[in-house]
Amino acid sequence: MIWLGIESSCDETACAVLQDDPVKVLSNPLYSQIDEHALYGGVVPEIAARAHLQKIAPIAEAAVKEAGIALTDIDAIAYTTGPGLMGPLLVGASFAKGLARDLQIPAYGMNHLEGHLAAAWLTHPEIEPPFLTLTVSGGHTELVLEEPGFKYTSIGRTRDDAAGEAFDKCGKLLGLKYPAGATISRLGKDGNRKFVDFPRALHVHDNCEFSFSGLKTAVLRYTETHDPEFIQKNIGDICASLEDAIVDSLVTKTITALKKTKMKTLVVGGGVSANAWLRTRLQDYCGKHGITFCIPERSLSTDNGAMIAAAAIRRKLQGKLTSVNEVKPWMPLAV
Ligand code: KG4
Ligand code: ZN
Repeated sequence: MIWLGIESSCDETACAVLQDDPVKVLSNPLYSQIDEHALYGGVVPEIAARAHLQKIAPIAEAAVKEAGIALTDIDAIAYTTGPGLMGPLLVGASFAKGLARDLQIPAYGMNHLEGHLAAAWLTHPEIEPPFLTLTVSGGHTELVLEEPGFKYTSIGRTRDDAAGEAFDKCGKLLGLKYPAGATISRLGKDGNRKFVDFPRALHVHDNCEFSFSGLKTAVLRYTETHDPEFIQKNIGDICASLEDAIVDSLVTKTITALKKTKMKTLVVGGGVSANAWLRTRLQDYCGKHGITFCIPERSLSTDNGAMIAAAAIRRKLQGKLTSVNEVKPWMPLAV
């Protein structure tokens, strides 16, 4: 079967064409709205919805063209139903359902977070649940146990900000453009991770919860007590220290969860899984402890259409793809 995946939950308009047996990404173009939002220091939902509306058809066309198929070769569509911004989600859902009706094919509403984890599955299609998952994105930071049949049990999540949000907000305090995660990683690559002793919240607790709001306050205090020239001069070391604080929290709590659940496979997904330091630290731990480590290719860590189609394919292979033309109460778009 040929699948079209559509992702429009936040600030990327993304479409992808995948084949499902064996699973293979045939194309995965996207339009990033980052420049349109950077001016405001974060995503503006109305601007995002409008941009999706303008770009979704051209991106879907590009996906079909790059895959070397005809529109009529598509057998099914998978689109994101949430979590995400309502306007942007509505654009993706309307487009998916309209196209599905036109082509007389099914459209499946998929969960964005399941999509992030399915991006990791693309690199290791052989892995079988149960396994521990870590989702780290701009909106979510959560450890979830996945058991056969897509049975999910939350092991712990953030009490306040998500890891990506911590990168972005702390970056903003340091004068970096939104989204700051990749920039902090780049600037801090060769920096001294011990330059500033930023706090690691809840480390003394034997739970699997995260908290990043204290870190945000610590960065704010740091910018108030050091002059801009000093910060500019030492930005590499400050970024390295900040990145280490966030990554350290993620790794410590993931290890706690691995020990508690006794899982032998770790699946990681979400935009922050593109972070090289996080990848190194987790890979290192898993390698030393005989744990299978499953993480998306870096290009598939952040939002994309392939992960949404992959989520549908993964469910289909397990006989758990049931939400044909699913209509949520807030989506008055019955097909
Ligand atoms: O999954 P994603 O693309 O969108 C959401 O579902 O939220 O994640 C975006 C988040 C942003 O907060 C961004 O700063 C962060 O992922 N991010 C990174 C890196 N690349 C993206 N954070 C740290 N290091 C990176 N290399
Ligand atoms: Zn995402």
